[in-house]
Amino acid sequence: MSDRLFIFDTTLRDGEQVPGCQLNTVEKIQVAKQLEALGVDVIEAGFPISSPGDFNSVIEISKAVTWPTICALTRAVEKDIDVAADALKFAKRKRIHTGIGTSDSHIKFKFNSNREEIIERAAAAVKYAKRYVEDVEFYAEDAGRTENEYLARVIEAVVKAGATVCNIPDTTGYCLPYEYGEKIKYLMEHVDGLSAGKAILSTHCHNDLGMATANTMAGVLNGARQAEVTINGIGERAGNTSLEEVTMILKCHKTIGIETNINTTKIYPTSRMVSSLMNMPVQPNKAIVGKNAFAHSSGIHQDGVLKNVQTYEIIDPHDVGIDDNSIVLTARSGRAALKNRLQVLGVTLEKEKLDKVYEEFLKLADKKKDINDDDILVLAGADRAENHRIKMDYLQVTSGVGVKSVASLGLNIAGEKFEACATGNGPVDAAIKALKKIVNRQMTLKEFTIQAISKGSDDMGKVHMQVEYNHQMYYGFGANTDIIAASVEAYIDCINKFKN
Ligand code: KIV
Ligand code: ZN
Repeated sequence: MSDRLFIFDTTLRDGEQVPGCQLNTVEKIQVAKQLEALGVDVIEAGFPISSPGDFNSVIEISKAVTWPTICALTRAVEKDIDVAADALKFAKRKRIHTGIGTSDSHIKFKFNSNREEIIERAAAAVKYAKRYVEDVEFYAEDAGRTENEYLARVIEAVVKAGATVCNIPDTTGYCLPYEYGEKIKYLMEHVDGLSAGKAILSTHCHNDLGMATANTMAGVLNGARQAEVTINGIGERAGNTSLEEVTMILKCHKTIGIETNINTTKIYPTSRMVSSLMNMPVQPNKAIVGKNAFAHSSGIHQDGVLKNVQTYEIIDPHDVGIDDNSIVLTARSGRAALKNRLQVLGVTLEKEKLDKVYEEFLKLADKKKDINDDDILVLAGADRAENHRIKMDYLQVTSGVGVKSVASLGLNIAGEKFEACATGNGPVDAAIKALKKIVNRQMTLKEFTIQAISKGSDDMGKVHMQVEYNHQMYYGFGANTDIIAASVEAYIDCINKFKN
């Protein structure tokens, strides 16, 4: 009989902490429902004390989702736990995730404390959380760099206090797979409550050295029965272990004898949805969900695959929900076809919103022959610009070889019209100089990414920008069949987020 690995998804907490990836509550609910359809066991919905937005999202996700346990993060602080319990009040299954740093550097520099006091604080936090919920998970922050003997004492104390899950984060992504595996093995062998089945161990690995998935697998092979993951591996710095990698490893390597509840055919649509809502591109060579993950380019490989697909393919793309017929919509497609495709992608829209998206769809279909899933997801998320103070009215650019580019730009700022003209070193430079003449602020473009056009010269270009203003970084996104317009949209998106 095979064992079961619980999948704890933290896309909406650790993933959402990434600068530029913030979602509003409606978007978070959309992702949470998709995670439920995907079959995750636990959704970490936020850190309620950190902001009113996070608090509200935990409440709304709790109402919207039925099967997965909803988890809220806290520090080992009573006030945090009170607020988390309040945010979880509508959850059908609920968990409080509390914890404290256990490595010597955290104990000394973060808490100015000592090992014994940290054990007391950890156990007290778990006991306090138990007043509110039965299911309490404890995290030993920086467990990756915590000495095993001491870590075992911490885990023993929190299991005694009632923790049902003990999370062993490699917070800094430092561990080697064999070290992390040995850590889990050591805890399994030295903490009484674990062998007695009172609690399970969880992995939570960061990818700073590119070893997050390898470390997670080492943990699972040594006894951990929950893996903390995110869609597309997003998360702090270099990210977290990705859901798609862990679940597909276990599916491909049946001899390991561990199963998850994940419906793998929903992996790809979920990946596209998260990437699109968070404006976070997936690297083309990303395992399982990257654009090139199933593309065979060398002649030898293509020849092999044509003879027998198993020669070079270990995963059937259909198993992860990659649908060969994904380009199905054209100018002749009706509203029902659009609605249906959006539903396949996990997006359900009210009639009014669907009508608006359909209108935009027809405009795009006028410019572009085939509308793909990415385009549709961009259109479905586009109303974020509707409430913006600054909108683009028009843009005209002339450019060429051997001449300076000239741009004239019209903006609508809170209902008033403004215009400016500028020349520049290329069309984007000219357009942004015109924009800066109207919005006269001290702002600096720090990062500018244009996503490669993947299919056809009429495709939508997607632009990500990072602009510094008033010592703060702002992230913007634009998508348009005209790449210069997409760039200006992304810059305007940043400006609309300025705090003053
Ligand atoms: O990486 C980490 O240590 C965390 C904890 C808060 C669980 O995200
Ligand atoms: Zn983390």
